Amino acid sequence: MSLILGIESSCDETACAVVRDGETVLSNAVASQIGKHAAHGGVVPELAAREHLTALYPTLKEALDTAQVTMQDVDAVAVTQGPGLMPALLVGLNFAKGLALGYGKPLIGVNHFLAHIYAAFLESGNNVLTDPAAYPLLALVVSGGHSSLMLIDHGGNARQLGCTIDDAAGEALDKAAKLLGLGYPGGPIIQRTAEGGNIHAYHFPRPLTGAAGKPLAPENRYNFSFSGIKTALLYHVRNTSEAERTLAWLADTAASYQEAVVDVLVRKALQAAKEFQVRGIVVSGGVACNSALRARFEGKVPSGVSLHLAERKFCTDNGAMVGGCGYHYFRKGLFAKMDIDSFARLPQITKVPFL
Ligand code: KG4
Ligand code: ZN
Repeated sequence: MSLILGIESSCDETACAVVRDGETVLSNAVASQIGKHAAHGGVVPELAAREHLTALYPTLKEALDTAQVTMQDVDAVAVTQGPGLMPALLVGLNFAKGLALGYGKPLIGVNHFLAHIYAAFLESGNNVLTDPAAYPLLALVVSGGHSSLMLIDHGGNARQLGCTIDDAAGEALDKAAKLLGLGYPGGPIIQRTAEGGNIHAYHFPRPLTGAAGKPLAPENRYNFSFSGIKTALLYHVRNTSEAERTLAWLADTAASYQEAVVDVLVRKALQAAKEFQVRGIVVSGGVACNSALRARFEGKVPSGVSLHLAERKFCTDNGAMVGGCGYHYFRKGLFAKMDIDSFARLPQITKVPFL
């Protein structure tokens, strides 16, 4: 039995978790900084770093206490190495180094993007990771920083099929909420505002789908672009007088906007699933909390393809996905040196560590 402590600080969530054997989440403590950043309409990197600095120790204590373990019981310290906001990452990484050094535990640097994918396998009780018949697997990671489609085979070989060429899906929702004066973070607010709204009330573009009759360049088949939707929203708001901006208008606007984002994500994922004859689709990352997105996938995934939706509590940034993913680095002996640095951008991924 192996206990891995997972530490996450890549953005505005300070999180620590204790995970047993990459599967059982004994604790998952998350200290959200949303309140601190809301006044700024988005995450302020230095503020995030300072908040991590004060929140990490209490969050660690909460994670250990809830799991009823001590640092002595932990087998390794896994920490998000990147990608993310550099000042925020540095605080978590340095904290993890201190713990690893102080308690004589191995240090593991985890890729945050891969941890998001891994979130779908936590407490899943299924044998996807070891069942050859579950592959190839398509992973859609949709968060504030990513909108990516990745193909994974049973040997752990990975191929990025596409990613966003401008804004991420979560960013598009966050910016929409800001534009509509609804607050931060936008994803859950847009979802709430959209309830009862008509998804067909207004038409927002579906960029890089070929839907507008524009031929789609082959290299963009699985890429995403969300900045055009945001601009369309800006014009939609400008073209509506203040008197016309009723609550019903707001609900219809949020519903139609959310629908455009959901439609593009699901359409591209299903296209890729068909082209590469995948046996399963993983959907994870903060935007995977979205009820409309989850319902659409549940309704549209063809028979013979399994849907692995990460549990909501593991979609947004958390330590459990880091500890879970980190377990596989641990069992393979993939330890980090004490002089590792953080990285801000996603490196090219050709292999996943958990297979
Ligand atoms: O995974 P995450 O916590 O952080 C990143 O790695 O970026 O994702 C945060 C993103 C934000 O853009 C937030 O608005 C979005 O996830 N999000 C949602 C929902 N909950 C969070 N988007 C749509 N619907 C939700 N219910
Ligand atoms: Zn994330």
